Amino acid sequence: MQRRPAWLKPLVAGSGPRYLQIADLIAHAVRNGELKAGDQVPPQRWLATELGVDLTTVTRAYAEARVRGLLASFGGRGSFIAEPYDPSQRGMVDLAMNIPPQPANRALADHIKAGMSEVVTRHDAESVSGYHHPVLEPTALQAARTWLGPMLDAMGQSQVLMCAGTQGAIFNLLQAHTRRGDAVLCDPLTYPGFLRAARALGLKIIGVPGDASGMLPDALERSCRDTGAGLLYLNPTIQNPTASTMPTARRQDIAAVLRKSKVTLIEDDPYRHLLNDAPLPISACTSGERSYYLASLSKCLSPSLRAAYVVAPSGQATTTLLESFAATSMGCSALLAGLVQTWIVNGTAKSLLGEIQLEARSRQALARSILPGSIQAHPSGIHLWLPLPPQWRPTAFSQALEDMGVRIAATNAFGVEDELPSGVRISVGGARSHAELQCCAAEDPDSAREKSDRQQPHGCLATRPIPMCTCNQASWCRNAQPDSIGAAAGRMDFSSTPP
Ligand SMILES: Cc1ncc(COP(=O)(O)O)c(C=O)c1O
Repeated sequence: MQRRPAWLKPLVAGSGPRYLQIADLIAHAVRNGELKAGDQVPPQRWLATELGVDLTTVTRAYAEARVRGLLASFGGRGSFIAEPYDPSQRGMVDLAMNIPPQPANRALADHIKAGMSEVVTRHDAESVSGYHHPVLEPTALQAARTWLGPMLDAMGQSQVLMCAGTQGAIFNLLQAHTRRGDAVLCDPLTYPGFLRAARALGLKIIGVPGDASGMLPDALERSCRDTGAGLLYLNPTIQNPTASTMPTARRQDIAAVLRKSKVTLIEDDPYRHLLNDAPLPISACTSGERSYYLASLSKCLSPSLRAAYVVAPSGQATTTLLESFAATSMGCSALLAGLVQTWIVNGTAKSLLGEIQLEARSRQALARSILPGSIQAHPSGIHLWLPLPPQWRPTAFSQALEDMGVRIAATNAFGVEDELPSGVRISVGGARSHAELQCCAAEDPDSAREKSDRQQPHGCLATRPIPMCTCNQASWCRNAQPDSIGAAAGRMDFSSTPP
């Protein structure tokens, strides 16, 4: 039976919400040294019984403690005290690179060590020391089926390949399907890696208008007709950069236009596994016809795997793609492919994904508590889109943050037109720890620390509104001397009309 720890004092009636009292007890115990990094806190159910409160109160308390950077939780393994963070040691924080948050307490490093050891003991040396052929052999194919699930069957007579990340596959597909000067279609704001590959191949990139549900089918049909484009690139689930997810009905309508126009689809779906309820891929709505489905493992497990599944129409299309692979990467690393297979088969991939989702959720909650209500994000996504009011230039905004040591990505990185919606993408996974993200979001490191010492809710805007900038300058107000994303967003006058 679990003993009641000394730090767990009784809750006091009339001293504020009980979930905050529990979070405060944890914060107090951390400050006093009664709880140290890596210590496990009691299971939620046990704590609820011990304190005579509902389970939901404890769940809320632990969520609050996570948002304050005190706790790290691991699905199925419980909650632990997070590593301490010294804001004075903070270097540049890169929230421009869209990577999954590292689960705390070095779980990823442990998974890599254990997984690699299993790879070299289970697989024969020959199979992991040579070249890896993109067409999967039966055991690897079975692992791919496990990962991709039932949607694979909906994609019809498709071939499953593995390649060294989707970035290369996008280049290979563009190369295999287009000639210099051809038009390719995409969202007006889209993944910069696609833009880079299309520009390198001398293609004409055309943004097709959309609404809150994504690309408009009528506009797509018109663009196919007017430009003669034979290829559409889409990233319909937690889109990069706008974080929007195209609903099922729109996917079906887009699929119908693609069929009618005989246009080939590159569906790039690296964020899908971060959602537990993503709609079926568009490639399933087309039954795989003229559709390439790209499932990167970079965003839901780790970019270090350099691995992605490609579901391609069988026949000549696959042959052409394989030729392009052979001309560039020669496939992915056999060792890393072995690690992916091992992780999927032994369940590590699923549990690691759960840990990443948990951390992503808590970082998104932190962001939502600080940034304006206009942000667009999925609760378990790894990036968010912050639309800027027209009087703010995205590049000036991101430069001001860079001067303060926080890197984010501005509209122009994602745009294909001159007139683009004004906004910035903030990647919550880029901070090395939850506490580091929290530090970026507070108006300055000292006051962040002071706040957490006073055991108040996290973040600057949540506790004290930052005065709006009134200087009416069309670009970033240098006089305001912002210190962080939270402060910067707080000083932006989202209500005023452009000067
Ligand atoms: C939409 C999209 N596709 C592909 C990638 C890159 O994937 P990979 O690491 O598999 O090359 C990214 C990375 O940010 C992305 O956002």
